[in-house]
Amino acid sequence: MPNEGSYEAALRRSNEVHADLLVHPENYTMLTGDRPTGRLHLGHYFGTLVDRVRLQDMGIKTNIVIADYQVITDRDTTQNIQDNVYNMVVDYLACGIDPAKTMIFTHSAVPEENQLMLPFLSLITEAEMERNPTVKAEQEASGHELTGLLLTYPVHQACDILFCKGNIVPVGRDQLPHIEATNKIARKFNKRYGKVFPEVTGLLTSTPLLPGLDGRKMSKSYGNAISLSMTAEETAKLIKKAKTDSERNITFDPENRPEVAALLTTAGICSGRDPKELADEIGMGGGGQLKKVVTEAVNGRFEQIRERRCELLQDMDYIKDVIHDGNERARAVAVQTLNEVREAMGMVY
Ligand code: TRP
Repeated sequence: MPNEGSYEAALRRSNEVHADLLVHPENYTMLTGDRPTGRLHLGHYFGTLVDRVRLQDMGIKTNIVIADYQVITDRDTTQNIQDNVYNMVVDYLACGIDPAKTMIFTHSAVPEENQLMLPFLSLITEAEMERNPTVKAEQEASGHELTGLLLTYPVHQACDILFCKGNIVPVGRDQLPHIEATNKIARKFNKRYGKVFPEVTGLLTSTPLLPGLDGRKMSKSYGNAISLSMTAEETAKLIKKAKTDSERNITFDPENRPEVAALLTTAGICSGRDPKELADEIGMGGGGQLKKVVTEAVNGRFEQIRERRCELLQDMDYIKDVIHDGNERARAVAVQTLNEVREAMGMVY
């Protein structure tokens, strides 16, 4: 990533806020979200879902956007979107997100949030948007043309964060440019029209990125991700297919044995154990024993969550109620903020 200096600054700021959250939870509003392009997997769970539940239960105001308009930033279809959105709600609730505490909503149901896009677009230049390294990386990875939406979606993300006056956003490092853009927009708006929006801090997670089963980045498209929605049998099958290497003795060596290390890391994080210790215990048990340990660790860790998931799937009316209720609440918040924006801009007739 470019810009080491700004990463250091972001990390410092994140640590300060992490400490203050415990003292003054009432001062914080969290907003984060996911694109509904498929099922959530272990990377999402350990990377962010656990943290969201923790923030929710600390008494921080918590909001989650299911970013349906972001789906069409780098793909040309909305196929399966309804199913993906409902299942995303199911995943959230199974993991401990409580819809009475956390507002869950979709972009497309909140017009007043989307309307913020207009004034916000006047607060950022084309050059600033074209410099965003995450947009560039996503364009390259997807091979998609640079549409107006792909170029401007970080501004739309600023709408997500600012319509509910979010001031903390749990993020991976790749999302930091979007936080920076959000702050630029908020500051410029406040300077031109009067203070409406807060300062936003990206909360960097302390959990290291969980690799996929083959040691590469975890991604559904690589077939190396275990979804929360998989059964124990499907999980076992996927782990069985995972590549290891020709050396029988199991050691934890991420540099030279990335596949074996990824499996040990997965088992470690699921069982709360040190991967090196697991490696020592498996030793000459080889790849077969390693996969057995990983399978047991994953299936044990997710047994209850998966049971809860199945129960929730039996009651789709409830899931729809959750999203309808969240959308309604989000709309009320967005109407209020848009009114403040109109007033600040003098657009009151
Ligand atoms: N861009 C995020 C992702 O790809 C999803 C997202 C949408 C988001 N709006 C957001 C994240 C606002 C944080 C804040 O996963």
